[in-house]
Amino acid sequence: MADRVRPDREDREPKLDVGRSSALLKRLRQSEALLAARPGMYFTGYERIGGNPVFIDRAEGARLRDIDGNIYTDYLLGFGSVVLGHGHPEVNRAVMAALGRGVNPTLLDVAHLDLAERIVGLVPSADLVTFLKTGSDAVDAAVRLARAVTGRSHVLHYGHHGWHDWCSASPGVPDAARSLLHRFAYNDLDSVRALFDAHPGEIACVVMMPYELEPPQPGYLTAMKQLTHQNRALFILDEVRSGFRIGLGGAQGAFGVAPDISAFGKAMANGHAISALAGRREIMARILELGLTVTYFRSPDAMAASLATIGILEREDVPARLKRLGRRLMDGLDQAALKARVPARSVGLEATPFLRFEHEREAERDRALRLFCNGMLARGHLMTPAHHWFLCAAMTEDDIDRTVRAAERTLADIAAAI
Ligand SMILES: Cc1ncc(COP(=O)(O)O)c(C=O)c1O
Repeated sequence: MADRVRPDREDREPKLDVGRSSALLKRLRQSEALLAARPGMYFTGYERIGGNPVFIDRAEGARLRDIDGNIYTDYLLGFGSVVLGHGHPEVNRAVMAALGRGVNPTLLDVAHLDLAERIVGLVPSADLVTFLKTGSDAVDAAVRLARAVTGRSHVLHYGHHGWHDWCSASPGVPDAARSLLHRFAYNDLDSVRALFDAHPGEIACVVMMPYELEPPQPGYLTAMKQLTHQNRALFILDEVRSGFRIGLGGAQGAFGVAPDISAFGKAMANGHAISALAGRREIMARILELGLTVTYFRSPDAMAASLATIGILEREDVPARLKRLGRRLMDGLDQAALKARVPARSVGLEATPFLRFEHEREAERDRALRLFCNGMLARGHLMTPAHHWFLCAAMTEDDIDRTVRAAERTLADIAAAI
């Protein structure tokens, strides 16, 4: 698809024709509950004037072509799961070969053994690993395991961990579940100390993303682990986003901290549904008590996808490539913002960058971000305002430079509008 990218929508007025997507979305809303309730859900946080692209024609490498024929460089990448690029041929071949041996064929596939050995070899804290399907599954299982091991119920957390009861504040979650979860502030040990003091002997675990936009201050994650252990609780890293992305050993390898338990998903299988729970032997040995039996956990296609993905990540040192590309994008965005005199700066780790607008008033910051993502989408660069973006190995320096040029134009529009 790369050859057939339309020669630069960058130069034109940002205008997006999504007529076919819109018509199909109208139909879908008659029968699909989530989209009936929130048609713009793929772009949470903003509604595009004139509609969103919704339906895919084809995804390949770093590109999407929607059903109306618009082509985008994809900075959402299957919500961060597609780390190599869409439809990587080597991963596809591995999946097809696994399917040829059977779909969920009752007995274990040898890929299951190979993947378990691979992850135990790569993830510093992993003596034992087990596989699940989604990131929510894996973090939920980690928390249940910590509760089983410690005999305590309360949980301290930082970040997003999925949609299950233990971590969600939505209607329908019993108050009892909600009352057991306490959020602490990132890079702020005192906020965690205060929570331990408020619930002596009740905290089963600290579960946290190792970072989201701000990187951890030096020593922060290690101090968090120490503080957690001093309080006889377990330290869980939610590596669903960071794992197999910033390094083959995840954030724990990159920042030198070994959690008791960690959860992986997303980048580990280039878009295929698999997640993993890994940890210290004596803790993971209690896993049988949790009743983790689900029909699809062992499907060999996802195991094969993950093995192939991890092989490529390692062989091509994809984490280093993502870091280089991300640095180029962040520097380019910073320069573009300076040039346009828009108060904005790039934030986040290189593999998951974002542009933060720093206008004085919140309404202006929100408007600028919305205008930015709208303008970038119309110019062929799919970015969400809801959270940071993702990079993949199929992106080139040329892709990044085209994105920066589109950002220059979009930021100039924003300077004129706000
Ligand atoms: C850090 C983190 N943990 C857990 C989850 C939940 O993963 P899933 O959507 O696969 O259930 C997500 C999803 O975005 C995530 O970013």
